[in-house]
Parts: sequence; structure tokens; C-alpha cells
Amino acid sequence: MQTRVVVAQPWEVEADVLAVPIAKDGEPSALLAALDSRLDGILADLRAVGEQRGSAWSGTLVRGRGSAAGWILAMGTGSGEAGDPVATVRYGAAVERRLAGRTVRRLALWLPTAFLGADPARSVELVVRGVVEGSTEPAQIYREAPEGMPPVLDELIVAVEAGDRGILAAAAERGRIIGEGSNRARRLSQRAANDVSPEVLADEASAIAKEHGLTLTILGPEEAGRLGMGMFLSVGRGSSNPPRFIALRSGAAGSTDARGRLVAMVGKGVCFDTGGISIKPADRMEEMKMDKTGACTVLAAIDTVSRLAPGTPLLAVAPAVENMPGPHATRPGDVVRALNGKVVEVNNTDAEGRLILGDAMTWAEQQGATHLVDVATLTGAVERALGKQVTGAFTTSRPWWDEVAAAGDRQGERTWLLPLVDDYRPLMDSAYADIVNTGGAEGSLITSAIFLREFVTKPWVHLDIAGTAYHRKPFPWAARGATGVSHPMLVELALAGATGAA
Ligand code: BES
Ligand code: ZN
Ligand code: MN
Repeated sequence: MQTRVVVAQPWEVEADVLAVPIAKDGEPSALLAALDSRLDGILADLRAVGEQRGSAWSGTLVRGRGSAAGWILAMGTGSGEAGDPVATVRYGAAVERRLAGRTVRRLALWLPTAFLGADPARSVELVVRGVVEGSTEPAQIYREAPEGMPPVLDELIVAVEAGDRGILAAAAERGRIIGEGSNRARRLSQRAANDVSPEVLADEASAIAKEHGLTLTILGPEEAGRLGMGMFLSVGRGSSNPPRFIALRSGAAGSTDARGRLVAMVGKGVCFDTGGISIKPADRMEEMKMDKTGACTVLAAIDTVSRLAPGTPLLAVAPAVENMPGPHATRPGDVVRALNGKVVEVNNTDAEGRLILGDAMTWAEQQGATHLVDVATLTGAVERALGKQVTGAFTTSRPWWDEVAAAGDRQGERTWLLPLVDDYRPLMDSAYADIVNTGGAEGSLITSAIFLREFVTKPWVHLDIAGTAYHRKPFPWAARGATGVSHPMLVELALAGATGAA
């Protein structure tokens, strides 16, 4: 798909469909009224009859006679603030999804100044990202030609009242590339466990490494054992699909980014989580194929950063395992030694994410990481606490958290910082080891992060995306399934350290 920015009146834009935003309250703008008079007043009629009054993400498609567009899509935007990043992404996605099943090759978005808000370039980026993300449907992964899919566009035209076309065109391209990266993360994340094993994740990483000339590390069980990754290895033992410890590095060996850092993004790659011997109930267990989302996200993020700002020093680490019961599986009560030397009692084999992430973060620090951010579908508790629209976060460093949160805000990703309460550390005391891997039901969201903290010494942010990584039902602005959450913010965060053009 090509993107193009034009400065034009809404009735001048040639396209199969021209989408125009309709706010819920107040009078239509002068330009919208001028468009409407060319459309014979149909927008006013739609408002009068209650068919289109601007309710958020309700879209009405009408003929564009009197304008240069074949059809006009009047898309309600609700009564939110102009330029709000969450709503701006959703607008683009809702437009694309409203056109599902329709024949559209050239889609134009008329984005008036009042819609774009205080940072027009950012809003253009986010709308385009939304259109691209709106085009993904899980039905496309395995079926030949499912019906009713969002249209495959040849061209996306962004039409504005005024502005620097060069700056806006660059913003549109950035949105397209970040959106395509989110879609790559989502598609990989929702592929089934009989399709994506740890080895297949390693193959995906290797393809990314080849494409961008990144440094690839893949460790099998023997090498990981020799290094001393006892926690990582304890998880995959029950499966006949062997674990793979995967890492990608961009930038020259030993180099740091424009801020003197080496950021490590560490993603949980549990290709399927049965719970292991502490087995999960059958209900909704099929969702646990998405327990690899963190890994898919960090692999997609370093791919996207390599497209936007090649050579930016950055590390992506994706420990990949399958958590299965079996004759060799770790038992509750087993004691293992972590890469950082700590002795860990595994009292619940279903708390496996923290085991693979702990060793991965130690390894990242051994590689020279100065700042860490991990992303993981870690706990059911985070979904109960914050729901499906807010990612839970923990940190050991306020300044580092502020940067991660700001990157999230700019990309329209909601996060909420939770406390690391030292008083809860004794809940994880072990009679046999330095720590147990679960502290019981009390404060279990917080103790999951307290466990992870034992394995980092550098500024660190933990993102628990178990609630936000996938939707069980569709929305006007998103398909059901994987959401791509945190891919945009990780890219945004890494680009802050880019040396070249971004
Ligand atoms: N992968 C799960 C967390 C999860 C739950 C992700 C629901 C997405 C939806 C994780 O490995 C897990 O099993 N966590 C346990 C931790 C418990 C044993 C302390 C949980 O949340 O129940
Ligand atoms: Zn898990
Ligand atoms: Mn688990």
C-alpha cells in the first residue's frame, strides 16, 4: 500500500471512498457543510433522521455524487478531544473495518485541522497506523479467501486543509511501517501452537536477522545448560519441541545508542502454556497459544526499528519454550539454579513466564544492556485488576519508567504503574532456596514482578500484557484476537535512541 498526502478541499479528493469524521456534538464545520451542499445535503439529512449523529465508530456509506469520490464514509468520532492518540488510531482502524467486504482500492481520509489537534504530524501517523492495523483479521491466517475481509488498499490518501506535505508524508509512512510491524506481531502471535514451535520462532528471528543484517543468537538446550540457564531450561523440559533462546541485536557490537544506552527488549515466548504439571483447567486453554505474544512483539519491534532507523543499537531477547506436562517435566518442588546464581524453588509450574524471563534478563545484562523493558502475558491477575485496555507496569527506575510511559502515550497505548511492595517479598521465601516462583493468591500481581526484580540490576520496566494482548470479541476498531499491544510503544522508545533519520 502506498501513502500520499494532499492539501485539498474534501470534495476535490479523487478516491473510491472518502472518509470524513463526524463529531457527536456541535455544528458541522464550514468545510463539512460545504462538502454536504455538494452532496445535496445528505449529511444533514442523516443527522436529522438519526442515522448518523457522530456516535463513536458508527459509519454510514453514501454515494459521493457532487464530489470527486465514488463514495463518502461518514464516520462518527464521538465527543472526545481532538488529537487524542487512542481515539486517533481507532478512527483509522474503524474506517478500514467499516469497509470490510467492500471493493475499495483507493481510500482517502479527509483530516480537517480541527480533527488533527495540537500535533498534526503525530495524528496523521496514528490514523495511518490505525488503517493498517484495521486490515488484519485472524481468519486470514489459515483460510484461502475468507469473505468479508477489510479491503486490501493500493493507495491511502491523506487529505488535509493545510500543512507541510513533506513532514506529513513522512509521518504517514512512519504510521504505515509501525502498523505493518504490529500486524506482523499479531499474525505470529495468533498462529497455532502446532504451527509455531520455539524452533519456528527462531526461524522467524533468523529471517529478520538476514533481512536487516542483525546479529542473531539462537541457543538450544545444551548451550543454554552450559551457560547455566537453569530457570529457562526448567520450563521446556516436558515438551518434545525443544526450547530456543533467541536474541537479535542491531547496531555494531559494543555500540550504544544516541543516549549512550543499550536498550534490551525482552519478550515472553511461551509457545503454549498448559501450566505444565500444575495443569490449567480446560476452559479457554486454547488462548494459551498467545502466551508467546511478548516474544512476537519484541521480534517485530526490532524488525520495525530496523526499517525506520537501521543500525540503531538495540537488543531483542525472546526466550521460547513450550510449557507441557510429560515424563521429563519440572515438578512442583523442584529446585533449579538461575543464570545469575540464585537458587529457585518451582512451587507452581504454571508460573513459568517469570522463570524464562529472569534468565533472559540476566543474559541481556551480560550482553551489555544498560536499560531493560520486558513484555509478557504474565498473570491473569492483571486482567482482573486493569481489564483489557490498560497494560500493567512495574519499574525499578522512575526516570526510565517516565520515558517508557511517554512512548506509550505518544502511540496511544494505555499503561498504569503498579507498586513493587517490599513488604511482600517474604511471601516468596523458600525453605530450600533463595526464592519460590509464586507467593500465593495474596498480591499475586505484585509478587510476579517482585520475582522478576531478583534478576535485574539495571533500570527496568516490566509490562504485563496478559489483559491487553488479545481481545475475545471484535470491536468496530479491532478484530478479535491479538492486538499488537506494546509494539508501537517499544518502537517509539527505541527510536528515541536512533542516531540516523527516523
Ligand atoms: N500465561 C499465564 C498468564 C495468563 C493468564 C495470560 C490468562 C493470559 C491470560 C501465566 O503463565 C500463568 O499461568 N500465570 C498464573 C500465575 C500463577 C500460577 C501465580 C496465573 O495468572 O494464574
Ligand atoms: Zn504463561
Ligand atoms: Mn502459566
